[in-house]
Amino acid sequence: MESLANEYYKPILKWAGGKRQLLPILIRHIPDKFNTYYEPFIGGAALLISLYSLNKIGECVISDTNEDLYLLYKIIKENPQQLIDKLANLEFRNNKDDYYNARELFNSITDPWKRSALLIYLNRHGYNGLYRVNSRNKFNVPFGKYNNPGMPSPRNIMALSKIFQSCTIMNSDFEVTVKNAKKGDFVYFDPPYIPLSKTSYFTGYTNSGFDEKDQERLAKSFRELSNKGVYVMESNSNTDPIKELYKDFNVLEVEARRNINSVGTKRNSIKELIITNYSDA
Ligand SMILES: C[S@@+](CC[C@H](N)C(=O)[O-])C[C@H]1O[C@@H](n2cnc3c(N)ncnc32)[C@H](O)[C@@H]1O
Repeated sequence: MESLANEYYKPILKWAGGKRQLLPILIRHIPDKFNTYYEPFIGGAALLISLYSLNKIGECVISDTNEDLYLLYKIIKENPQQLIDKLANLEFRNNKDDYYNARELFNSITDPWKRSALLIYLNRHGYNGLYRVNSRNKFNVPFGKYNNPGMPSPRNIMALSKIFQSCTIMNSDFEVTVKNAKKGDFVYFDPPYIPLSKTSYFTGYTNSGFDEKDQERLAKSFRELSNKGVYVMESNSNTDPIKELYKDFNVLEVEARRNINSVGTKRNSIKELIITNYSDA
């Protein structure tokens, strides 16, 4: 594979909860040395990509319960050139009619190649890069009205493919993903956040959601990994229930600009948490 400049190492999807804003501070808080890297809520993969560019990744295990995302990443790992060709042949442009035609096609086909190419198109041209489905599991995000949304370049896809060569890619719940993590490994949890208010409508990542019980399950998993000697870092929302769940660990409040809000124009700066089971060097 040709060698690629660092500028191509970037996420190919916009993803709700994407961590690009927080990368410098997250990187400052990773452990000095670790063995296998686990990212069980991979989403847009912002931290994995940064850590790879910094030469911090040897082996990695990544996962997400979103099946479309999983299929896309498997294809990028195993057959990037075929995806690049599919994207080049996509006939949809940046207008409302094309967008809704693409969305209808996406919802009516099962072919993973076509679906993956269309997912990239829908993600770049749909409202706020959201992934949202209705009760019948049909993708229902409206047109985004962006002036020049652009599509990922072939080099961007090749760079991600190179990173994924080091990764086992799974489509499982976070508990299954981290089951084999051992002492000296590093797990980064970035779960869907509990909505900050009842009006936060756009919080669903899959049709199943992630509720308080899942947050409790996650805190239990955090503790179990910690007891095994695994380094664990987690991002979560700055709320009292979350602080209570992690009161035995290091909890840091950091400033974050949320990309996805219930009202597109309201992009407030709010605090969120970085939780670790180890002290920084
Ligand atoms: C906050 S996003 C991750 C954002 C990611 N760090 C980024 O930079 O783009 C959370 C992800 O968790 C996935 N997810 C939801 N429930 C899950 C579960 N039970 N196990 C694993 N992944 C889950 C969602 O599909 C979503 O992609």
